[in-house]
Amino acid sequence: MQATLNGLRCAYADAGKGPALVLVHGFPLSRGAWQPQVEAFQAGRRVIAPDLRGLGESAPGPGIATMDTFADDVHALLELLGTGPVVLGGHSMGGYIALAFLRRHPGMVRGLVLVGTKAGADTPEGAAGRRATAEKVEAGGVAVVVDAMAPKMVAPAHAAAWEPRVRTLMAGATPAGVAAALRGMAERPDSTAMLSTIEVPTLVITGADDVLIPPAESEKLAAGIPGATLAVIPAAGHLVAAEQPESFNRALGDWLTTLP
Ligand code: MLT
Repeated sequence: MQATLNGLRCAYADAGKGPALVLVHGFPLSRGAWQPQVEAFQAGRRVIAPDLRGLGESAPGPGIATMDTFADDVHALLELLGTGPVVLGGHSMGGYIALAFLRRHPGMVRGLVLVGTKAGADTPEGAAGRRATAEKVEAGGVAVVVDAMAPKMVAPAHAAAWEPRVRTLMAGATPAGVAAALRGMAERPDSTAMLSTIEVPTLVITGADDVLIPPAESEKLAAGIPGATLAVIPAAGHLVAAEQPESFNRALGDWLTTLP
C-alpha cells in the first residue's frame, strides 16, 4: 500500500482486522523484516508496518531524519488509517523511534514492544562516526553501510546463509535516506530517564546472540521499565524477529494475550 505522509510517498503493509499492532523496522532495513509477524498476527489483529522515509520503498525527505521526524511519520500514517491507540513495536532504530513516539504521542500507545534496541544516546565518538559515514554514503552510495551491517544482522552461526536475504531487506535504502537516518540517530537523546515513567505494558525482546546491540542493553531496558517483560530468544542475533520467527511470535503472542 502507499500513502502520502508529510508530503512524502510512504509504502506500508496493512493486513488483517482487529486491535492494531504497528511494527517499525530498523536501520537500514524495510518492512519486509516484519513479514513473519505480518503473516502470523493478521488473523485477529490489524498489523501495520511502514517503510521509514528514505528506506524500503518510501521516498527520502529533506534534511536530517530525527527520531521525532520518523515518529511523526508513523503517527501521520496511523491518523490516516484511523487506528486509534496501538501496540507499537520497534526494532533497533525502530525502538529509538518507538520511544520518541511515546514521548510525542503518549495517548496513541497502549503497549510497547522493544526489540534489539537500547535507551542510551550515541557517545560523542559514535555520533561523529555516524556523521562521517553519512558523508561517505552521500559521496559513494549505501554499500559502505550495507557491507558493514549485512554480515552482522543475524547470529554469527547463521550469518553466511542469511546475508543475501539481509541485503534484499536493505536493497531499497537510498543514499539520502541512509545519510538522513545516520544523522538522526547521531543526535537522538538519551532515553534512559524516561524508562521509569513508562506506564504502558512493555515487552522487551532480544536475540541471545545479538552482536550489534548486545542482550545486556535489553536487560537494562527491562529492568528500567516498570513491570516490563523480557524475552531472550536463543540462536538469534539482531534480526531476531525474522531469524527465529516461531520463538519470537510465541513470545509476542503470549504477551499480547496479557494486555487489557
Ligand atoms: C539498527 O539496526 O537499527 C541499527 O543497528 C541501530 C543503530 O545503529 O544504532
